[in-house]
Amino acid sequence: MKDRLQKVSQLQVLRNLLKFATNPIPIIDDTFIDFEDDSYRVNLGGMTKAIITKDPDFIKHILQKGARNYQKSILQTEHLATFIGKGLLTSNGEYWLKQRRLIQPGFHKKALDSFVEIMQVEVGRYVERLKKRVLSGEHEIIMLKEMSYLTLRIVSKALFSVGIDDDQIAQFGSKVDHLQEAIIQKVRQPFLAWWRKISGTDRKNSIIAQELYDLVTGIIQDRKSSKEQHGDILDMLLAARYEDNGEGMTDQQLLDECLVLFAAGYETTANALTWTFYLLDQHRDHQHKVLDEINKESIDPNDRLQTLMQYDYIRQVVSESMRLYPPVWMIDRIALEPDHFDGVNITTDEIVNAYVYGVHHDPKHWDNPYTFQPNRFAREKLKSIKAYTYFPFGGGPRLCIGQQFAMMELQLIVSRLLKDFSFTLNEDLPIQVVPSITLRAKSGIKMKVALRN
Ligand code: HEM
Repeated sequence: MKDRLQKVSQLQVLRNLLKFATNPIPIIDDTFIDFEDDSYRVNLGGMTKAIITKDPDFIKHILQKGARNYQKSILQTEHLATFIGKGLLTSNGEYWLKQRRLIQPGFHKKALDSFVEIMQVEVGRYVERLKKRVLSGEHEIIMLKEMSYLTLRIVSKALFSVGIDDDQIAQFGSKVDHLQEAIIQKVRQPFLAWWRKISGTDRKNSIIAQELYDLVTGIIQDRKSSKEQHGDILDMLLAARYEDNGEGMTDQQLLDECLVLFAAGYETTANALTWTFYLLDQHRDHQHKVLDEINKESIDPNDRLQTLMQYDYIRQVVSESMRLYPPVWMIDRIALEPDHFDGVNITTDEIVNAYVYGVHHDPKHWDNPYTFQPNRFAREKLKSIKAYTYFPFGGGPRLCIGQQFAMMELQLIVSRLLKDFSFTLNEDLPIQVVPSITLRAKSGIKMKVALRN
């Protein structure tokens, strides 16, 4: 069957190699315009055969309907796994399914309620800390740094509660950040592999990864020998038993799953929050609506989850923020066997990239796609949003396991911080977007912080 897709020439790939390494989004977008199509072929990094698509039906096909034929590509299963092991996020096939079944119950409603309690404690501590800083004269913050600190604490405490101290949390954060940067370089600049080897970069990265494993292994072993119960994710992972043999996970599996939940769980949320505070400052009318909502509700300690769900306008705001700035801006899969979809022949081992950012900004699906309009996500409109035109948490069997956790966290942090503080942009526009593993703001977004009266 004839294939309809156009292909980016190698000359063009070479010409754009450096630009692509810094920010691929404008190049990807321009190519869609040039080809006047929703999908095209390109050799990524000059080497890997790939399709990039912003066609929601094609995306539904690879993530959901035909998911059996599409696995995660080596970006996650090898590059990411080199550093954070073979956990839920980084594995494929039977093994992934087994792990997903084992871990999924740990994110059910009852568990979520206790996570919200952890979140409340950590946000409360952060608020007190920030108040002190403001009162002692500190008025400028880098939002991404602040939000990374907070979400890092939350995910660390949800995983290990009292088993992790402040110093370990900080070490975790810097090591994971370093390793993510290393992965991006590996993927975007495969032609510099020789240099990373001879310059000692590879060795340095392996040492940092080993330090990270030692840290987590130490925490797991302490918990095992103490036999204490804290109702956190680690307890759940230790207690989980496989259906077929009734056994628990090995130490290596425990380590891998902790690392994965940790790595997947904080940077994504920190970026979503940073963009949300930025957008709310740029759109004061919406910020006023959020404040009205916050002043109406207060969290009932007997049903935290239920009260949080009443923050419906904040839900709309964070949803819209993740439409404009999806933390995971591209999702990739690799074809196990040849496949055909709507005039496209997908060959074995070909990578299909679902371009989340592109779909979220496509005027075919969104009116004024670059405008911040939270009420696109008003309850009564949700049903009319076409499948896979909005998918910040992915879709199909590999939908983000932390989706509810993250939504609760976003709503809680936005409501709690805006109650006590105002944040105003303290740098010139435009803010530069950096698509790393997650979609970041280059400057981290400098903001002025003040106490609300
Ligand atoms: C705003 C915050 C978040 C966003 C935007 C987000 C986004 C995503 C996306 C798009 C995927 C699917 C990737 C793919 O299909 O290739 C994913 C998977 C995953 N996420 Fe999240 N995530 C967030 C927060 C969290 C949190 C808080 C946790 C854990 C506490 C978490 C844990 C995971 C795990 C373990 C997977 C792999 C699931 C599997 O393959 O079975 N995420 N996330």
